[in-house]
Amino acid sequence: MVVLAVSSLKGGVGKTTVTLGLASAALARGVPTLVVDLDPQADATTGLDVAARRDATVADVLANPRRGEIARAVAPSGWAGDQPGVLDVMLGSEASVDHDHTSRPRAMRALATALGKLAGYDLVLVDCPPSLGGLTRTGLVASDRALVVSEPAIFSVAAADRALRAVDALRRSDAPQLQPLGIVVNRFRERSPEHRYRLEELTTLFGPLVLRPTLPDRSAVQQSQGATTPVHRWTGHGGPELAAAFDSHLDRVLRAGASRRQARRPD
Ligand SMILES: Nc1ncnc2c1ncn2[C@@H]1O[C@H](COP(=O)(O)OP(=O)(O)O)[C@@H](O)[C@H]1O
Ligand SMILES: [Mg+2]
Repeated sequence: MVVLAVSSLKGGVGKTTVTLGLASAALARGVPTLVVDLDPQADATTGLDVAARRDATVADVLANPRRGEIARAVAPSGWAGDQPGVLDVMLGSEASVDHDHTSRPRAMRALATALGKLAGYDLVLVDCPPSLGGLTRTGLVASDRALVVSEPAIFSVAAADRALRAVDALRRSDAPQLQPLGIVVNRFRERSPEHRYRLEELTTLFGPLVLRPTLPDRSAVQQSQGATTPVHRWTGHGGPELAAAFDSHLDRVLRAGASRRQARRPD
């Protein structure tokens, strides 16, 4: 199982879009996946079309990371025809905001403790909120890899830098297993000189950490999300192009999982 945090210390750049795109790619490929919705806005939970009401959410799991609580907070995505174990969601909730204010070491490890009790998933995607509070830290502490989402715009470049520094700081303290997977550049418009300039700037600053392909700015993103449909099933303009980009990023995530397993294997 590989655990990927999708993060950026900025709102509205596409964290949830990337989480949903990777979940869509994983579903298309038959990779059993759990999405953990750590953002109190719970957009990933909405996007994944969860029909079943649950009496618990990720907030309850963070307060009490026991098996019973986890089972109560996890529901199948409508994308998988509500069939459990294919693509599941640990439901987001406004109540998780309480956890954002804690910095107690045990609370920081709550999600890691919960994920340690899971079986059956090959991939866990953690959709983080936009600030570096307790929630994002809890997500990063539970993750093997961090994917930073950025837009090709000046403030987003600065936020990507902060996010990578945060990953680095955590790797040297509470999350020794954590490594940056890279920066995915979202809403890229090839014809915009400003976008090309910022992409070049990101590449100068972060070198091979800037992942290809970039994700294009396409109304298919908003349309498929509005229809709570995985982008891999969106046949309208832009759908197949986005699906191919997410497939390629999923490959990288799964390769990272495989190399992690190999590193752990005894001689
Ligand atoms: N590549 C894209 N093309 C078009 N719209 C996008 C793209 N990526 C994100 N959006 C839209 O931008 C908004 C913010 O994206 P979202 O994924 O919710 O950001 P975050 O989770 O970082 O706050 C959403 O309405 C989403 O549909
Ligand atoms: Mg979001």
